[in-house]
Amino acid sequence: MTQLDISLTVNGARHELSVGPTEMLTEVLRRRLDMTGTNRDCGMGICGACTVLLDGQPVSSCILLAALADGSEITTVEGLERDGRLTAVQEAFLRHGAVQCGYCTPGFVITSTALLEENPSPSREEIVEALKGNLCRCTGYKKIVEAVEAVARAKGDGVGVS
Ligand code: FES
Ligand code: FES
Repeated sequence: MTQLDISLTVNGARHELSVGPTEMLTEVLRRRLDMTGTNRDCGMGICGACTVLLDGQPVSSCILLAALADGSEITTVEGLERDGRLTAVQEAFLRHGAVQCGYCTPGFVITSTALLEENPSPSREEIVEALKGNLCRCTGYKKIVEAVEAVARAKGDGVGVS
């Protein structure tokens, strides 16, 4: 099968890769770049476990052909921390008990981070709307929403998000 040469910048590091025409971004991240923080569950763009930022926007990497991401900047959950420290969103998830089995968590953290970058003071309704593409079997969502609200509140009080 024909291979395609692409270039991806993942968490600030540039990678030149040869990918198959049907190879999805999730597989490239997990298998080729060893970034297993991006999970794969449904593989159909429904659950959000595979969410990454593509040029700053959250996308389901399981349904994005790697070839179509050529030239893009990708941020995975591994790329959020700064100087070895968790971000405010990650800390809030832990503090508010928004993590149980954790399988969905990287996707929620990525989507929440993108939301707060775009809208530092989202209402509860806006948070729920932004997170509607991320599914969680364990938490009942309440604690996840509370964690995002807490970061938004802290930001409003002058405490940084990341
Ligand atoms: S694994 Fe990608 S949306 Fe479910
Ligand atoms: S914490 Fe288990 S699926 Fe969300």
